[in-house]
Amino acid sequence: MPKTILEVIDLKKHFFHRKGLFSAFSGEERRIPAVDGVSFYLKENETVGLVGESGCGKTTIGRTVLRLAAPTSGRILFDDKDITTATTEQLRKLRGQMQMIFQDLDAALNPKMRIRDILREAITVHHKVSDEEVSRRIGELLEQVNLKKGKLSNFPHELSGGEKRRVGIARVLSVGPRLIVADEPTSALDVSIQAQVVNLLRDLQSQLGLSYLFISHDLRVVELISHKVAVMYLGKIVEMGLSGRIAHAPKHPYTHILWSSLVEKQSKESSSATRNTQSGIWGVFDFERPYSGCRFAPRCPVYESQGRPTVCTDPASEPQLRDIGDGHQVACHFPL
Ligand SMILES: Nc1ncnc2c1ncn2[C@@H]1O[C@H](COP(=O)(O)OP(=O)(O)OP(=O)(O)O)[C@@H](O)[C@H]1O
Ligand code: SF4
Ligand SMILES: [Mg+2]
Repeated sequence: MPKTILEVIDLKKHFFHRKGLFSAFSGEERRIPAVDGVSFYLKENETVGLVGESGCGKTTIGRTVLRLAAPTSGRILFDDKDITTATTEQLRKLRGQMQMIFQDLDAALNPKMRIRDILREAITVHHKVSDEEVSRRIGELLEQVNLKKGKLSNFPHELSGGEKRRVGIARVLSVGPRLIVADEPTSALDVSIQAQVVNLLRDLQSQLGLSYLFISHDLRVVELISHKVAVMYLGKIVEMGLSGRIAHAPKHPYTHILWSSLVEKQSKESSSATRNTQSGIWGVFDFERPYSGCRFAPRCPVYESQGRPTVCTDPASEPQLRDIGDGHQVACHFPL
């Protein structure tokens, strides 16, 4: 039975923004519940996909579970150790085991450093390593991520998007992690290169026994790599289960629409080469929109077709995730 490497219990991460120009005087603050009570676990050698529209809180979950950001409340267990309030020193020791592939490809690689130096820096950051060992490790990493040796003397801007992503992955691997949060590792890449990156991550998982929290706004990519999928809407997980079930038998109206909008987008792309934007499939989507009860009600077709049942908007009955069999969970009063 594989061991649980990461467990997240009722995690919350709220941000506070000052409201308007005169807020410094009025003291008024706007609260953004970017992660609002999320629980899940990840086993060794397993991939959990986290999917949802832009701004729903995916990156915030990734950063918070790795303790790159402090949680507002809840608990995070890594390898059975509670790291919710781990000190900087304790986290420094754990950094080698938990790593993040960052969403922003260009911000992640220092533009002034050659690829060789970027990798050398990553290998030597925590340990003193001989030049010979550094060269051996760099060779091994290049092989692992399928990158040609000739690229070592290049600067990041001289590489293609796919090559930069491979360097980012090599850098993360250089410290020997067990858990990797991969934040949109395929975004901004052509479809064929996306598939290469997904295959690379899959191969690395079977070679090295890695566990991934794989974040993407694209359900197609998430389904390709994940064993389990969690669908997120405005700071909450609204559906979670085995990848095949989430893809082929979604029970939450939001997941269903995510799939249909993909199909719609695909046909638009092929007919008029419409640009594939991440956000706002249906327009308004943010934490400012007031809601009562189910936060998806203002956009939910089932709510409309059921004649706007009061249970959906009753503040006392916000739908909670409940098990509907085979580890499939859904937070909806009228699952499909
Ligand atoms: N450091 C921060 N300070 C204040 N608000 C933040 C901060 N980071 C994120 N937010 C807000 O939290 C919400 C969730 O952001 P997050 O980046 O986690 O979303 P995301 O799902 O990763 O989106 P995307 O798909 O665009 O990457 C957004 O409303 C965002 O503006
Ligand atoms: S609880 Fe009601 S409003 Fe929310 S997703 Fe289900 S049907 Fe739609
Ligand atoms: Mg993000």
